[in-house]
Amino acid sequence: MPTIVSTPTEWRSLRKSLAGRSVGFVPTMGNLHEGHIDLCRRARAENDIVVASIFVNPTQFNQASDFEKYARTLEADKKLLAGAGVDYLFHPDAKDMYPDDYSIKVGEEEIAKELEGAFRPGHFTGMLTVVMKLLNIIGAERAYFGEKDFQQLLLVKKMVAALFMPVEIIACPTVRAQNGLALSSRNARLTPEQLEKAPLLAELLQSGMSDAAVMKKLEEAGFKPEYVDTRWGRRLAAAWLGDVRLIDNVPAVNGGAAQNAAGQHNEVCHAAVSGCG
Ligand code: PAF
Repeated sequence: MPTIVSTPTEWRSLRKSLAGRSVGFVPTMGNLHEGHIDLCRRARAENDIVVASIFVNPTQFNQASDFEKYARTLEADKKLLAGAGVDYLFHPDAKDMYPDDYSIKVGEEEIAKELEGAFRPGHFTGMLTVVMKLLNIIGAERAYFGEKDFQQLLLVKKMVAALFMPVEIIACPTVRAQNGLALSSRNARLTPEQLEKAPLLAELLQSGMSDAAVMKKLEEAGFKPEYVDTRWGRRLAAAWLGDVRLIDNVPAVNGGAAQNAAGQHNEVCHAAVSGCG
């Protein structure tokens, strides 16, 4: 089992005793699945020491009820981390992570306003703030993030570059079920019928259809899509299936199927933002 470390002070003194050994870090909110474990395995292969964190970060949830509902599965998580060869589990509580009561924040003004940011105001500020804190505490050489949360990955890379943080951000491909569904802790909340329908999201994103056509097909299939959009060389979407919000993204065809020759978006489809579809 990984050694549990509960406070930043405890980890900092431990980190000193590990001087000269490379540390790979996998930040998570727990309720782990194969996607997280894949990140841990990659970290295991590339570093002397592997640290994972489990911290359900209150500041990145839009609704207090979602924060409360988030599944806490510490005992099962510890076993999965042990199986992936993780050495340490950093498992702080909110008072140790937010001694300032969230009066200090890290924000971004461009990417963080789009797509996920438009539908989840404040989410990326909460996420960037906690990732900054975690990276500062852990002092890893490398930190591992999945491409499933593509905007998160872009923002973390941008923050690290802009603030000259001494850590390399490693992007890892999305792990999918055999039917194509991107693995996510939220999938556990889908009913059996929704689970059967959910892979359609990835299937349509990978199709040659336009963003607007994908949006329409999702609606016809009973999803409530928020956006389907092509940018940053990816095609990205968010859609509700019942009360579960799914997100996914895939490489865009020709690096940006919905971009014209000038690189401008010629097809952006947002439910609430532009009302198309
Ligand atoms: O991707 C997540 O699980 C979270 O956003 C992260 C990076 C652990 C920050 O809370």
